[in-house]
Amino acid sequence: DFARALTRAAGGIELTREDIITLLQALPGEEETKLFELADRVRQENFGDEVHLRGIIEFSNYCRNDCHYCGLRRSNKEIQRYRIPLEEIVDTAKYAAELGYGTIVLQAGEDPYYSGEELAEMIRKVKESGNFAVTVCVGERSRKDYELMKEAGADRYLLKHETADPALFAKLRPGTSLAERIKRLQWLREIGFQVGSGNMVGLPGQTVETLADDILLLKELDVEMAGIGPFIPHDQTPLRDCSKGDLKQTLKTLAVARLVLPQTHLPATTAIGTLHPEGRKMALACGANVIMPNLSPAGYRQMYQIYPEKAGSKENADESHEKITSLVKEVGRHISKGRGDSPKEQFKN
Ligand code: 5AD
Ligand code: SF4
Repeated sequence: DFARALTRAAGGIELTREDIITLLQALPGEEETKLFELADRVRQENFGDEVHLRGIIEFSNYCRNDCHYCGLRRSNKEIQRYRIPLEEIVDTAKYAAELGYGTIVLQAGEDPYYSGEELAEMIRKVKESGNFAVTVCVGERSRKDYELMKEAGADRYLLKHETADPALFAKLRPGTSLAERIKRLQWLREIGFQVGSGNMVGLPGQTVETLADDILLLKELDVEMAGIGPFIPHDQTPLRDCSKGDLKQTLKTLAVARLVLPQTHLPATTAIGTLHPEGRKMALACGANVIMPNLSPAGYRQMYQIYPEKAGSKENADESHEKITSLVKEVGRHISKGRGDSPKEQFKN
C-alpha cells in the first residue's frame, strides 16, 4: 500500500513497478502531501537550493513529422513557419551570456533544411559566444549528425521518449517508433552526450501503468535530465477535443520521478506553467530543480505554438528572464551561477 511504498522510497530501497504505480495514485490530502514532501527533500539532498536556468532558443518551427499532439506538425497549414538567421541566433546567445546563463538550448522541429554540418556550425558559433553548455534538441537525426554535433562542442542532447507505450507512440507519432527513438538515445549516450528524455502526462490512451513505465524507462536509460509535462490540446491538431493533462497527476509523476532518479535534473516545465499560473512553483516544490526560460526573440514566439497559450509567448527575452528570476526568489531558492552539468562523475568539469 501507499505508506509501505513511501517508506521504501524514503529508505532508498529500489522501487518496484507496483510501488511506483501505488505512489502515482497518491490520494489528495495526506498522501499527496507526504509524497511531495519526500520528493522535495530528495531534491534538496541532491541539488540543494540551486535552480539551474537553461535559456531556450527556438530557432526553427519547421517539422517533417506529423505528431497528433503538436501544433508544429507538418499538416498544420495555419501556422507561419520561420527559421531564425544564424546571426540572430548568435546575438541571442551573446545576450544570454550577459544575463549569466550557463546553458543554451538550441531547439527546433525536425527540420531537414539543416544539414549535420550546418547544425555543427551553429553549435560552434553559439559556443564561441559565451561560457556555456549547449543542449541540442532537434529530434531524430543520423548517428553521423549526432557525432558532428558532439565534435562541434554540444554537451547535451534532449530527445523525449514522449510515452513508453509502443502502441500509443506509433499511433500518436505516425511513421516513427519507440524502438527507433530508444536506439537514438543509446547512440547519444555512446557518443558521450549528457542525455535528456522525458514524457507527457495525460495523453489520451495513457494509463497509470504507462506512466510507471515512463519512469522506469528513464531509469533504465539512466538519463541526466528528464522533462515531464502535461499534455495540452491544440486546436489545429487531431487531439483538439481531448482533455488536457491533470495538474496533480503531472506533479505526482514529477515527484515519483524525483524519488526514482535522485541525481537527474528535472525541469519545472513551461507546459506545467501553462496549465496553471503557479504550476512551475508547485513543480519546484515537489522535485524540480531546473527552469527553461524562453530566450527566443519576441517576433518568433507566437509562431512556436506547440500547444496554445504557451507561457511566455507574449513576452520578450528580458521579461521572461525577469519573471523566472523572481519566481525562483519567491520560492526561497537561488539561481545557480554554474553550467549545471550532471552531478555524475564522468560529466564533472
Ligand atoms: N502538450 C504538451 N506538450 C507537448 N509537446 C508537444 N505537443 C505538446 C502538447 N500538445 C512537447 C513534447 C515534445 C515537445 C516539443 O513539446 O514533449 O517533446
Ligand atoms: Fe515535430 Fe516535435 Fe512537434 Fe512532433 S512534437 S510534430 S517531432 S516538433
